[in-house]
Amino acid sequence: MRNERVLVTGGGSGIGRAVALACAHRGAKLAVVDTDAEAAADVASSAIAAGAPRAVGLWCDVSSESSVSKAYDRASEAIGVPSRIFANAGIEVNAQLHEFEPESWRRVLDVNLVGTFLTCREGLRRLVETASPGSIVCTSSPSAFVGFAGGGNSAYAASKGGVSAFVRAAALDYAPLGIRVNAVVPGATDTPMLVTGATEEERATGRDQIRIAARTQIPLGRLARAAEIAAAVVWLLSDESSYVTGSNLVCDGGLMAKSANTF
Ligand SMILES: NC(=O)c1ccc[n+]([C@@H]2O[C@H](COP(=O)([O-])OP(=O)(O)OC[C@H]3O[C@@H](n4cnc5c(N)ncnc54)[C@H](O)[C@@H]3O)[C@@H](O)[C@H]2O)c1
Repeated sequence: MRNERVLVTGGGSGIGRAVALACAHRGAKLAVVDTDAEAAADVASSAIAAGAPRAVGLWCDVSSESSVSKAYDRASEAIGVPSRIFANAGIEVNAQLHEFEPESWRRVLDVNLVGTFLTCREGLRRLVETASPGSIVCTSSPSAFVGFAGGGNSAYAASKGGVSAFVRAAALDYAPLGIRVNAVVPGATDTPMLVTGATEEERATGRDQIRIAARTQIPLGRLARAAEIAAAVVWLLSDESSYVTGSNLVCDGGLMAKSANTF
């Protein structure tokens, strides 16, 4: 990854942050993109400290076409045209379907699915223009493939199902140009998104509901660390996975391999 130009959306926190830092550690140049500009700038500083020759933090809302286009322009000025792209920014809003506000449902689709499309489109435009090979990784979820027992997940599941289908279609279109497109499918990962409902004390002691459930319900008996998902993403972004395209790499501690019932 040395001197490779990497753009990460949702890079200010959780999985995106871990991927940015793992790439920096391997000597890549980083554009860290997030709606939280301060967090993006912090991660960019940490990336420099971790070994990135260059890093920039940029405000960007991935659901906005002009915002994504501007972020790519600024990233290209700062680190060169990104050729390794992690389309990762995402949100989760849950509600029973008959009570879901259309505005919230659309927002989930706008950030998770349209945001993935816009991030990939702007990146691909620049790669095609410069006839450069590249690697794109999008963040999906087990909810693309199985129902969540917690329920109320229709918008998120639809958005991630879209992402998993999207990478297959995009991979075929761009394989002749040497641009690979894959998805990572992280299981329950210890990030701010996952523990939004927990109190500070519960988080500090590991006694929040999600960690208790993880111990009994996930075959590996725990949540994933963001760095473990990042290891899979860095592999997909790098040339080490040079023959992998159109795939959904499951990294879920055995979650999807297991039936909920013992029978
Ligand atoms: N944590 C999990 O258990 C888990 C499991 C499977 C998939 N995922 C997916 O992984 C991705 C990263 O999630 P995370 O757990 O690291 O969450 P997180 O909340 O820690 O990080 C998400 C980041 O995305 C940013 N963001 C949100 N909306 C944005 C927008 N419109 N434009 C740009 N940035 C935006 C947020 O500011 C935040 O920094 C998401 O796509 C999520 O759906 C997470």
